[in-house]
Amino acid sequence: MDRIVSGIRPTGNLHLGNYFGAVKSFLRLQEEHDCFFFIADYHSLTTHPSPDDLAGSVKNVLVEYLACGLDPEKAVIYLQSDVPQVAELYLLLNMNAYMGELQRVASFKEKARKQPDNVNAGLLTYPVLMAADILLHKAGKVPVGKDQEQHLEMTRNFAKRFNHIYKTNFFPEPVAYNFGHQLVKVPGLDGTGKMGKSENNNNAIFLGEDLKKTRKKIMRALTDAGPTRENQEKPQEIKNLFNLMSIVSPQPVVAAFEEQYNQCTIRYGEMKKRLAEDVITFIEPIYEKIHTLHNNNQYLEDVMKEGARKARESAQQTIEEVREITGFKKFPR
Ligand code: ADP
Ligand code: TRP
Repeated sequence: MDRIVSGIRPTGNLHLGNYFGAVKSFLRLQEEHDCFFFIADYHSLTTHPSPDDLAGSVKNVLVEYLACGLDPEKAVIYLQSDVPQVAELYLLLNMNAYMGELQRVASFKEKARKQPDNVNAGLLTYPVLMAADILLHKAGKVPVGKDQEQHLEMTRNFAKRFNHIYKTNFFPEPVAYNFGHQLVKVPGLDGTGKMGKSENNNNAIFLGEDLKKTRKKIMRALTDAGPTRENQEKPQEIKNLFNLMSIVSPQPVVAAFEEQYNQCTIRYGEMKKRLAEDVITFIEPIYEKIHTLHNNNQYLEDVMKEGARKARESAQQTIEEVREITGFKKFPR
Protein backbone atom coordinates (compact mmCIF):
# COMPACT_ATOMS: atom_id res chain seq x y z
CA MET A 1 0.00 0.00 0.00
CA ASP A 2 1.45 3.33 -1.01
CA ARG A 3 1.93 6.03 1.57
CA ILE A 4 0.40 9.22 0.21
CA VAL A 5 0.77 12.79 1.46
CA SER A 6 -0.87 15.90 0.08
CA GLY A 7 -1.23 19.44 1.32
CA ILE A 8 -4.20 21.68 0.78
CA ARG A 9 -3.65 25.41 0.67
CA PRO A 10 -6.33 27.20 2.69
CA THR A 11 -7.26 29.67 -0.01
CA GLY A 12 -10.66 30.43 -1.42
CA ASN A 13 -13.75 28.30 -1.76
CA LEU A 14 -14.03 25.04 -3.65
CA HIS A 15 -15.67 25.11 -7.05
CA LEU A 16 -16.85 22.33 -9.36
CA GLY A 17 -13.46 22.35 -11.11
CA ASN A 18 -11.64 21.65 -7.85
CA TYR A 19 -14.14 18.92 -7.07
CA PHE A 20 -13.60 17.00 -10.31
CA GLY A 21 -9.86 17.70 -10.14
CA ALA A 22 -8.11 17.41 -6.81
CA VAL A 23 -10.99 16.48 -4.50
CA LYS A 24 -12.26 13.53 -6.49
CA SER A 25 -8.85 11.97 -6.71
CA PHE A 26 -8.43 12.36 -2.94
CA LEU A 27 -11.74 10.53 -2.49
CA ARG A 28 -10.50 7.70 -4.63
CA LEU A 29 -7.08 7.57 -3.00
CA GLN A 30 -8.44 7.38 0.53
CA GLU A 31 -10.23 4.14 -0.39
CA GLU A 32 -7.06 2.39 -1.52
CA HIS A 33 -4.07 3.91 0.21
CA ASP A 34 -2.55 5.03 3.43
CA CYS A 35 -3.33 8.75 3.04
CA PHE A 36 -2.25 11.83 4.98
CA PHE A 37 -4.09 14.97 3.91
CA PHE A 38 -3.28 18.17 5.71
CA ILE A 39 -4.15 21.84 5.57
CA ALA A 40 -0.98 23.78 4.82
CA ASP A 41 -1.51 26.66 7.23
CA TYR A 42 2.19 27.35 7.86
CA HIS A 43 2.69 27.76 4.13
CA SER A 44 0.04 30.45 3.97
CA LEU A 45 2.02 32.69 6.32
CA THR A 46 4.32 33.45 3.38
CA THR A 47 1.71 35.94 2.22
CA HIS A 48 1.02 37.42 5.70
CA PRO A 49 -2.72 36.85 6.20
CA SER A 50 -4.35 38.42 9.27
CA PRO A 51 -4.93 35.98 12.16
CA ASP A 52 -8.68 36.14 11.58
CA ASP A 53 -8.36 35.49 7.86
CA LEU A 54 -6.00 32.58 8.50
CA ALA A 55 -8.29 30.95 11.09
CA GLY A 56 -11.37 31.53 8.92
CA SER A 57 -9.89 30.06 5.77
CA VAL A 58 -8.55 27.01 7.61
CA LYS A 59 -12.02 26.26 8.98
CA ASN A 60 -13.54 26.88 5.60
CA VAL A 61 -11.29 24.51 3.71
CA LEU A 62 -11.68 21.81 6.37
CA VAL A 63 -15.46 22.07 6.22
CA GLU A 64 -15.57 21.98 2.42
CA TYR A 65 -13.28 18.97 2.03
CA LEU A 66 -15.20 17.05 4.70
CA ALA A 67 -18.48 17.96 3.03
CA CYS A 68 -17.15 16.56 -0.25
CA GLY A 69 -16.48 13.23 1.44
CA LEU A 70 -12.92 13.31 2.73
CA ASP A 71 -13.27 10.81 5.53
CA PRO A 72 -11.33 10.97 8.81
CA GLU A 73 -12.01 7.25 9.27
CA LYS A 74 -10.19 6.47 6.03
CA ALA A 75 -7.47 9.11 5.81
CA VAL A 76 -5.46 11.04 8.36
CA ILE A 77 -6.75 14.60 8.04
CA TYR A 78 -4.78 17.13 10.02
CA LEU A 79 -3.54 20.66 10.35
CA GLN A 80 0.14 21.22 9.48
CA SER A 81 0.68 23.47 12.51
CA ASP A 82 -0.63 20.73 14.84
CA VAL A 83 2.46 18.68 14.05
CA PRO A 84 5.51 20.54 15.39
CA GLN A 85 7.85 17.83 14.08
CA VAL A 86 7.43 19.33 10.61
CA ALA A 87 9.15 22.52 11.80
CA GLU A 88 12.08 20.50 13.10
CA LEU A 89 12.50 18.54 9.89
CA TYR A 90 12.22 21.80 7.95
CA LEU A 91 15.05 23.25 10.03
CA LEU A 92 17.26 20.23 9.44
CA LEU A 93 16.54 20.14 5.70
CA ASN A 94 17.26 23.87 5.43
CA MET A 95 20.88 23.18 6.38
CA ASN A 96 21.32 21.31 3.12
CA ALA A 97 19.18 23.51 0.88
CA TYR A 98 21.16 26.03 -1.13
CA MET A 99 20.37 29.66 -1.90
CA GLY A 100 21.05 29.22 -5.60
CA GLU A 101 18.65 26.35 -6.15
CA LEU A 102 15.92 27.99 -4.06
CA GLN A 103 16.22 31.25 -5.95
CA ARG A 104 15.79 29.45 -9.24
CA VAL A 105 12.39 27.96 -8.36
CA ALA A 106 9.69 29.24 -10.70
CA SER A 107 7.06 29.74 -7.98
CA PHE A 108 9.56 31.78 -5.92
CA LYS A 109 10.40 34.03 -8.84
CA GLU A 110 6.71 34.54 -9.55
CA LYS A 111 5.87 35.34 -5.92
CA ALA A 112 8.85 37.70 -5.67
CA ARG A 113 7.53 39.52 -8.70
CA LYS A 114 3.97 39.61 -7.36
CA GLN A 115 4.84 40.76 -3.83
CA PRO A 116 8.13 42.70 -4.22
CA ASP A 117 7.70 44.28 -0.78
CA ASN A 118 7.45 40.93 0.95
CA VAL A 119 10.12 38.62 -0.41
CA ASN A 120 10.58 36.83 2.91
CA ALA A 121 12.76 33.82 3.74
CA GLY A 122 9.64 31.66 4.14
CA LEU A 123 8.83 32.29 0.52
CA LEU A 124 12.35 31.28 -0.50
CA THR A 125 12.22 28.10 1.57
CA TYR A 126 8.63 27.18 0.67
CA PRO A 127 9.87 24.06 -1.20
CA VAL A 128 11.88 22.97 1.86
CA LEU A 129 8.78 23.10 4.07
CA MET A 130 6.87 21.19 1.41
CA ALA A 131 9.63 18.57 1.32
CA ALA A 132 9.43 18.32 5.11
CA ASP A 133 5.64 17.74 4.87
CA ILE A 134 6.20 14.87 2.50
CA LEU A 135 9.33 13.28 3.97
CA LEU A 136 7.93 13.50 7.49
CA HIS A 137 5.65 10.56 6.64
CA LYS A 138 8.09 9.00 4.17
CA ALA A 139 5.51 9.24 1.40
CA GLY A 140 6.15 7.55 -1.93
CA LYS A 141 3.44 9.35 -3.85
CA VAL A 142 2.15 12.89 -3.82
CA PRO A 143 -1.05 13.78 -5.66
CA VAL A 144 -0.47 17.26 -7.05
CA GLY A 145 -1.25 19.31 -10.12
CA LYS A 146 1.32 20.16 -12.79
CA ASP A 147 2.24 23.43 -11.10
CA GLN A 148 3.75 21.52 -8.15
CA GLU A 149 6.07 19.27 -10.10
CA GLN A 150 9.12 21.43 -9.64
CA HIS A 151 8.54 21.45 -5.88
CA LEU A 152 8.35 17.69 -5.92
CA GLU A 153 11.57 17.45 -7.87
CA MET A 154 13.20 19.51 -5.13
CA THR A 155 11.77 17.16 -2.53
CA ARG A 156 13.51 14.30 -4.33
CA ASN A 157 16.75 16.28 -4.42
CA PHE A 158 16.58 17.00 -0.70
CA ALA A 159 15.82 13.35 0.06
CA LYS A 160 18.68 12.15 -2.18
CA ARG A 161 21.07 14.66 -0.69
CA PHE A 162 20.17 13.69 2.86
CA ASN A 163 20.63 10.01 2.01
CA HIS A 164 23.96 10.75 0.34
CA ILE A 165 25.37 12.95 3.11
CA TYR A 166 24.42 10.50 5.84
CA LYS A 167 25.13 7.37 3.80
CA THR A 168 21.68 5.95 4.29
CA ASN A 169 18.62 5.18 2.23
CA PHE A 170 16.27 6.51 4.86
CA PHE A 171 14.08 8.79 2.76
CA PRO A 172 12.19 7.48 -0.28
CA GLU A 173 12.18 9.68 -3.37
CA PRO A 174 8.53 10.57 -3.79
CA VAL A 175 6.93 10.86 -7.21
CA ALA A 176 3.97 12.90 -8.35
CA TYR A 177 0.77 10.99 -8.54
CA ASN A 178 -0.39 13.11 -11.38
CA PHE A 179 -4.14 13.08 -11.61
CA GLY A 180 -4.16 16.12 -13.87
CA HIS A 181 -4.12 14.29 -17.17
CA GLN A 182 -6.58 11.52 -16.38
CA LEU A 183 -9.35 13.67 -15.03
CA VAL A 184 -11.82 15.89 -16.80
CA LYS A 185 -11.07 19.58 -17.06
CA VAL A 186 -14.16 21.40 -15.95
CA PRO A 187 -14.85 24.40 -18.19
CA GLY A 188 -15.93 27.74 -16.77
CA LEU A 189 -19.07 29.71 -17.60
CA ASP A 190 -17.49 32.69 -19.34
CA GLY A 191 -16.77 30.91 -22.60
CA THR A 192 -13.00 30.96 -22.33
CA GLY A 193 -11.08 28.19 -20.61
CA LYS A 194 -11.31 26.15 -17.45
CA MET A 195 -13.30 26.92 -14.38
CA GLY A 196 -11.15 28.79 -11.87
CA LYS A 197 -11.72 31.04 -8.91
CA SER A 198 -9.16 33.58 -10.06
CA GLU A 199 -10.93 34.43 -13.31
CA ASN A 200 -14.07 36.23 -12.21
CA ASN A 201 -16.85 35.38 -9.82
CA ASN A 202 -19.30 34.41 -12.52
CA ASN A 203 -16.99 31.91 -14.17
CA ALA A 204 -16.93 29.40 -11.34
CA ILE A 205 -19.70 27.45 -9.62
CA PHE A 206 -18.83 27.27 -5.93
CA LEU A 207 -19.96 24.31 -3.83
CA GLY A 208 -20.99 26.46 -0.88
CA GLU A 209 -22.65 29.36 -2.65
CA ASP A 210 -26.35 30.12 -2.56
CA LEU A 211 -28.07 27.75 -4.99
CA LYS A 212 -30.21 30.54 -6.42
CA LYS A 213 -27.00 32.30 -7.33
CA THR A 214 -25.72 29.14 -8.99
CA ARG A 215 -28.85 28.96 -11.11
CA LYS A 216 -28.51 32.61 -12.10
CA LYS A 217 -24.87 32.20 -13.08
CA ILE A 218 -25.65 29.25 -15.29
CA MET A 219 -28.58 31.02 -16.94
CA ARG A 220 -26.17 33.87 -17.72
CA ALA A 221 -23.42 31.65 -19.14
CA LEU A 222 -22.11 32.90 -22.45
CA THR A 223 -23.76 31.44 -25.57
CA ASP A 224 -23.79 32.42 -29.25
CA ALA A 225 -26.71 33.23 -31.56
CA GLY A 226 -27.28 29.53 -32.26
CA PRO A 227 -26.38 27.17 -35.11
CA THR A 228 -27.52 28.03 -38.61
CA ARG A 229 -26.26 24.97 -40.47
CA GLU A 230 -26.86 21.33 -39.61
CA ASN A 231 -24.01 19.54 -37.82
CA GLN A 232 -22.11 22.77 -37.57
CA GLU A 233 -18.92 22.86 -35.48
CA LYS A 234 -19.56 24.35 -32.03
CA PRO A 235 -17.88 27.56 -30.91
CA GLN A 236 -15.83 27.32 -27.70
CA GLU A 237 -18.48 28.65 -25.33
CA ILE A 238 -21.02 26.10 -26.57
CA LYS A 239 -18.49 23.28 -26.35
CA ASN A 240 -17.91 24.32 -22.77
CA LEU A 241 -21.60 24.18 -21.98
CA PHE A 242 -21.88 20.69 -23.45
CA ASN A 243 -18.77 19.57 -21.59
CA LEU A 244 -20.16 20.85 -18.34
CA MET A 245 -23.42 19.08 -19.04
CA SER A 246 -21.67 15.80 -19.78
CA ILE A 247 -20.10 15.98 -16.34
CA VAL A 248 -23.32 16.44 -14.37
CA SER A 249 -26.23 15.31 -16.54
CA PRO A 250 -27.37 11.83 -17.57
CA GLN A 251 -25.96 10.80 -20.94
CA PRO A 252 -29.34 10.66 -22.78
CA VAL A 253 -30.02 14.27 -21.79
CA VAL A 254 -26.73 15.39 -23.29
CA ALA A 255 -27.38 13.33 -26.42
CA ALA A 256 -30.83 14.91 -26.84
CA PHE A 257 -29.40 18.44 -26.73
CA GLU A 258 -26.57 17.40 -29.10
CA GLU A 259 -29.22 16.23 -31.54
CA GLN A 260 -31.11 19.52 -31.21
CA TYR A 261 -27.89 21.42 -31.82
CA ASN A 262 -27.17 19.40 -34.93
CA GLN A 263 -30.70 19.99 -36.18
CA CYS A 264 -30.48 23.73 -35.39
CA THR A 265 -33.52 23.49 -33.11
CA ILE A 266 -31.68 24.00 -29.86
CA ARG A 267 -32.90 26.59 -27.39
CA TYR A 268 -30.01 27.53 -25.13
CA GLY A 269 -32.38 28.80 -22.45
CA GLU A 270 -33.84 25.29 -22.13
CA MET A 271 -30.44 23.70 -22.11
CA LYS A 272 -29.15 26.02 -19.39
CA LYS A 273 -32.27 25.44 -17.33
CA ARG A 274 -31.67 21.70 -17.43
CA LEU A 275 -27.96 22.17 -16.77
CA ALA A 276 -28.73 24.32 -13.73
CA GLU A 277 -31.10 21.66 -12.39
CA ASP A 278 -28.54 18.91 -12.78
CA VAL A 279 -25.72 20.99 -11.30
CA ILE A 280 -27.91 21.80 -8.31
CA THR A 281 -28.94 18.16 -7.86
CA PHE A 282 -25.26 17.30 -7.74
CA ILE A 283 -24.19 20.15 -5.46
CA GLU A 284 -27.15 20.28 -3.06
CA PRO A 285 -26.08 17.48 -0.68
CA ILE A 286 -22.55 18.95 -0.49
CA TYR A 287 -23.98 22.44 -0.02
CA GLU A 288 -26.16 21.27 2.87
CA LYS A 289 -23.28 19.43 4.48
CA ILE A 290 -21.06 22.53 4.26
CA HIS A 291 -23.64 24.57 6.10
CA THR A 292 -24.28 21.90 8.74
CA LEU A 293 -20.58 21.35 9.38
CA HIS A 294 -19.93 25.07 9.76
CA ASN A 295 -22.13 25.01 12.84
CA ASN A 296 -20.69 21.83 14.26
CA ASN A 297 -17.53 23.07 15.95
CA GLN A 298 -17.37 20.11 18.30
CA TYR A 299 -17.18 17.64 15.43
CA LEU A 300 -14.53 19.70 13.63
CA GLU A 301 -12.49 19.88 16.81
CA ASP A 302 -12.72 16.11 17.25
CA VAL A 303 -11.62 15.51 13.65
CA MET A 304 -8.62 17.80 14.04
CA LYS A 305 -7.64 16.27 17.38
CA GLU A 306 -7.73 12.73 16.08
CA GLY A 307 -5.88 13.70 12.89
CA ALA A 308 -3.20 15.50 14.90
CA ARG A 309 -2.73 12.49 17.13
CA LYS A 310 -2.21 10.11 14.21
CA ALA A 311 -0.02 12.50 12.22
CA ARG A 312 2.18 13.23 15.25
CA GLU A 313 2.67 9.56 15.87
CA SER A 314 3.93 8.99 12.34
CA ALA A 315 6.00 12.20 12.44
CA GLN A 316 7.60 11.39 15.77
CA GLN A 317 8.84 8.07 14.50
CA THR A 318 10.51 9.72 11.52
CA ILE A 319 12.00 12.58 13.49
CA GLU A 320 13.53 10.28 16.08
CA GLU A 321 15.29 8.33 13.37
CA VAL A 322 16.38 11.51 11.60
CA ARG A 323 17.85 12.82 14.87
CA GLU A 324 19.74 9.61 15.32
CA ILE A 325 21.07 9.66 11.75
CA THR A 326 22.16 13.31 11.91
CA GLY A 327 24.02 12.83 15.20
CA PHE A 328 21.53 14.20 17.70
CA LYS A 329 21.81 10.97 19.55
CA LYS A 330 20.11 10.06 22.77
CA PHE A 331 22.23 9.76 25.91
CA PRO A 332 24.11 7.63 26.76
CA ARG A 333 25.87 7.95 23.36
P1 ADP B 1 -8.07 27.76 -9.19
O1 ADP B 1 -7.72 27.51 -10.63
O2 ADP B 1 -9.50 28.00 -9.00
O3 ADP B 1 -7.16 28.75 -8.49
P2 ADP B 1 -6.52 25.85 -7.76
O4 ADP B 1 -5.31 26.22 -8.51
O5 ADP B 1 -6.61 26.17 -6.32
O6 ADP B 1 -7.82 26.36 -8.49
O7 ADP B 1 -6.78 24.28 -7.97
C1 ADP B 1 -6.57 23.28 -7.06
C2 ADP B 1 -6.70 21.97 -7.81
O8 ADP B 1 -8.01 21.85 -8.37
C3 ADP B 1 -5.73 21.88 -8.99
O9 ADP B 1 -4.62 21.07 -8.66
C4 ADP B 1 -6.52 21.23 -10.11
O10 ADP B 1 -6.22 19.86 -10.19
C5 ADP B 1 -7.95 21.32 -9.68
N1 ADP B 1 -8.70 22.18 -10.62
C6 ADP B 1 -8.87 23.51 -10.55
N2 ADP B 1 -9.66 23.96 -11.55
C7 ADP B 1 -10.02 22.87 -12.27
C8 ADP B 1 -10.84 22.65 -13.42
N3 ADP B 1 -11.49 23.66 -14.02
N4 ADP B 1 -10.99 21.40 -13.89
C9 ADP B 1 -10.38 20.37 -13.29
N5 ADP B 1 -9.60 20.49 -12.21
C10 ADP B 1 -9.41 21.71 -11.69
N1 TRP C 1 2.37 23.68 -2.43
C1 TRP C 1 1.10 22.99 -2.52
C2 TRP C 1 0.13 23.85 -3.34
O1 TRP C 1 0.36 25.01 -3.55
C3 TRP C 1 0.52 22.71 -1.16
C4 TRP C 1 1.40 21.81 -0.36
C5 TRP C 1 2.13 22.15 0.74
C6 TRP C 1 1.62 20.43 -0.62
N2 TRP C 1 2.79 21.07 1.19
C7 TRP C 1 2.53 19.99 0.39
C8 TRP C 1 1.17 19.55 -1.60
C9 TRP C 1 2.96 18.66 0.44
C10 TRP C 1 1.61 18.23 -1.54
C11 TRP C 1 2.51 17.80 -0.53
O2 TRP C 1 -0.91 23.35 -3.76
